Amino acid sequence: MIALTLAQLADAVSGRLRPAGGDGPDTVVSGTVDTDSRLIGPGDVFVAKPGETTDGHEFVDAAAAAGAAVALVERPVAAAVSQIVVADAVAALSDLAREVVRRVREHGARNEHGALRVIGITGSNGKTTTKNLLARILEDEGETVSPKASFNNEVGAPLTMLRVSDHTRYLVSEFGASAPGEIARLAGLVDPDVGIVLMVGMAHAGGFGGIEATLAAKSELIRAVRPGGLAVLNADDARVATMAAIAAERGAEVRWFGRGPEADVRADDVEVTADGTTFTVHADDDTATLRLRVLGEHHVMNALAAIAAATALGVSLADCVARLETVEIAERWRMQPLGSDRVRIINDAYNASPDSMAAALRTLAQITRPGERTVAVLGAMSELGEYAEEEHDRIGLLAVRLGIQRIVIVGPEARRMFLEAVAQGSWDGEAVFFATADEAFDYLQGELRDGDRVLVKSSNSAGLRFLGDRLGESFS
Ligand SMILES: Nc1ncnc2c1ncn2[C@@H]1O[C@H](COP(=O)(O)OP(=O)(O)OP(=O)(O)O)[C@@H](O)[C@H]1O
Ligand SMILES: [Mg+2]
Repeated sequence: MIALTLAQLADAVSGRLRPAGGDGPDTVVSGTVDTDSRLIGPGDVFVAKPGETTDGHEFVDAAAAAGAAVALVERPVAAAVSQIVVADAVAALSDLAREVVRRVREHGARNEHGALRVIGITGSNGKTTTKNLLARILEDEGETVSPKASFNNEVGAPLTMLRVSDHTRYLVSEFGASAPGEIARLAGLVDPDVGIVLMVGMAHAGGFGGIEATLAAKSELIRAVRPGGLAVLNADDARVATMAAIAAERGAEVRWFGRGPEADVRADDVEVTADGTTFTVHADDDTATLRLRVLGEHHVMNALAAIAAATALGVSLADCVARLETVEIAERWRMQPLGSDRVRIINDAYNASPDSMAAALRTLAQITRPGERTVAVLGAMSELGEYAEEEHDRIGLLAVRLGIQRIVIVGPEARRMFLEAVAQGSWDGEAVFFATADEAFDYLQGELRDGDRVLVKSSNSAGLRFLGDRLGESFS
């Protein structure tokens, strides 16, 4: 974190300072901020967050022992460390992030090094992938801060923002939403210069009451873009396209990406293989060929979104392409190639929504050559609420339509996919069901053979990523 005095810190979070040891209001703090006491080192700021299973207040002592400079707490704790008492630790994290980004912006406007640019990314699928692609492009331009893994909620987003310094040129933020108003609140902390909306789909739809409510939630990012800023929008998604009107209201420009000829940044000649996707990118009047190693045609759109934002920020198309070609994998457990050339395992079981399930199945069908066999190992999609049955049926149907040769359904919540596949004409043995990942593993150990192309996909909570890892090891 940028250097702040304890008084400034307390002020930023509307808290009450209780200095300890030799500390006073003018004591300067500049360590990193974290809610996990195990990650705290000398000089750091520990935020005692009341959690569902453990309460951060129980770890203030541990943070103090690890050398924390100060702890943000909701009630004073008997520990040898300065404390700032706040009403709500999670809200304090946001308040602090807002203040730090404000100071860095203000300072950047005055120094030789250029002002901080904030890029926000949202969408039902592809946020983390696009965040990683864009960060890869921007990090060669100047110091770039982006979330670890998928830090995109009311805790992860501010923790990321708090890593900006006076040397940071770009902050790339991922915004997820578990409720209406969440993106407005988080994006409102930083007033993004650029807002990217990837797509509006069924992911997490259960918590929202349908796709139109999801549209409203994702629109909140564009509403938060600063006047004179830029909205990067998916021209191929009719719901996302409606956000152009919001951008106009905000006085923000729109830059379109998509597969159609009308987009500012677009792709054609797309060729999908097991080693990645090759396509021609047109950005305004510039053209280049991109060999994206990240597996799956759906990532073409994520790459286009990253290029649309980066070229608007002044990076040449040639530089974007050269840097994107160095990216091997979107993120662990996202379309991650494992196994060997003989039995290829694609582990995409970090999470699953109807759109990402469909995209992964299509990829499996597309990359498989004659003589090779397609095997889909699928678990449940979570967070779909009242849409769950219908959406699982649809995936069972799609797997049959795509001609997936062996459909392996795992776990009781996923059983509908198996029943639907059978109802759609997949005969016994072609579609199989197992109650547990262990049973599926034993079956696949005996069943998989040279030439198999195996997709493993489920929601995070269904946990098939570990099955994918075991298969990867077993067939490497
Ligand atoms: N445009 C897309 N259409 C369909 N599926 C996609 C698309 N982009 C990415 N995916 C798939 O969605 C899954 C999640 O990707 P990623 O982690 O990048 O998304 P995310 O939006 O960050 O997800 P989360 O909400 O879980 O943080 C992966 O399986 C990925 O292959
Ligand atoms: Mg994510």
